[in-house]
Amino acid sequence: MIRAAILGATGYTARELLSLLLRHPEVEVTALTTRQENRPTLAEIHPSLRGRLDLVLENLTPSEVAQRADCVFGCLPHAASAAVVCELLAAGCRVVDFSADYRLNDPKIYEQWYKVEHPDAARMPETPYGLPELFRESIRGAQLVANPGCYPTSAILALAPLLKAGVVSPQGIVIDSKSGVSGAGRTPKPAFHFPECNESLAAYAVGQHRHTPEIDQVLGTFAEVETSVVFTPHLIPMDRGILTTAYVDPVGGVDADAVLDVLRQQYQNEPFVRVIDKLPNTKNVSHTNFCDITARLVRGKVVTISVIDNLIKGASGAAVQNFNLMYDLPETTALL
Ligand SMILES: NC(=O)c1ccc[n+]([C@@H]2O[C@H](COP(=O)([O-])OP(=O)(O)OC[C@H]3O[C@@H](n4cnc5c(N)ncnc54)[C@H](OP(=O)(O)O)[C@@H]3O)[C@@H](O)[C@H]2O)c1
Repeated sequence: MIRAAILGATGYTARELLSLLLRHPEVEVTALTTRQENRPTLAEIHPSLRGRLDLVLENLTPSEVAQRADCVFGCLPHAASAAVVCELLAAGCRVVDFSADYRLNDPKIYEQWYKVEHPDAARMPETPYGLPELFRESIRGAQLVANPGCYPTSAILALAPLLKAGVVSPQGIVIDSKSGVSGAGRTPKPAFHFPECNESLAAYAVGQHRHTPEIDQVLGTFAEVETSVVFTPHLIPMDRGILTTAYVDPVGGVDADAVLDVLRQQYQNEPFVRVIDKLPNTKNVSHTNFCDITARLVRGKVVTISVIDNLIKGASGAAVQNFNLMYDLPETTALL
């Protein structure tokens, strides 16, 4: 059995991760961390997991975690995460990091967008980006994997194959996303209180969202030229789910069928990406590791629409998929 620890185990992604790991045949969850000092039981923190695992949450140091675990899932915010990840790696653990700390290759871009100095910058360019459908070989056997952001997962899965095939232009990409409120995590913030966001739809962080450089980095890799996406996220009053609509210019008179064919070819053997003819919705992927994608040609623009569950394919499901690859286990274990 592989002994697994979860850092930041009080959060939403940790709860989803636990329910996946508790049905994983190769995993034993051996440590859960919190900054709380009162050692709450798992059932106190996540009542939906009552009776599934007899463990308390503890304020553990990285070396205490490393003594108890082979693999650590870091469900901490950025900056707090890298500070402990480097100690865990030095102690021999493997790590799947949910935060943004190892997703970007360039420390300067990280500092510009996240406004903090990276405590482990040298490791950034060599850390695999944990989107198995596009970077599988670099994830296999890795000691550290950077789990992608939720919005980037939805946008990149739709756009990267089209850029790689050269059927759309890397210039002028517009990405519009809507996310359920769990995307903001469990830590309370006024804008996410029920009376503030219910019955309301709002854009936020326009031109400033931190997922922008992450999307550019990956799309630029496939386009083989820098992209400069216009990314506008919105908060929508649902618990979970992301719907992303992207607008791109076609190249060389390509039609909608050709665009869909590129996506179908790219994902024909992928267990978790479904290229569909109908318009996707978040309900059909809720609580699953699937990403549903379609494309249309509308008045001279290619329009892609993709949906994921932000907490599963956008976070914990992707982490388990990466974990399976890191340990050479069947990639769908605990996910289908
Ligand atoms: N929510 C999503 O849809 C989503 C999707 C993709 C990626 N992510 C990323 O995944 C990570 C976890 O997200 P989440 O939504 O689960 O967040 P969350 O619900 O807010 O949980 C994060 C946990 O980390 C602990 N924590 C907070 N600040 C900390 C600090 N400064 N030092 C140490 N521990 C701290 C907290 O636990 P205690 O207060 O108990 O210590 C908290 O419960 C974040 O990096 C997030 O950006 C989230």
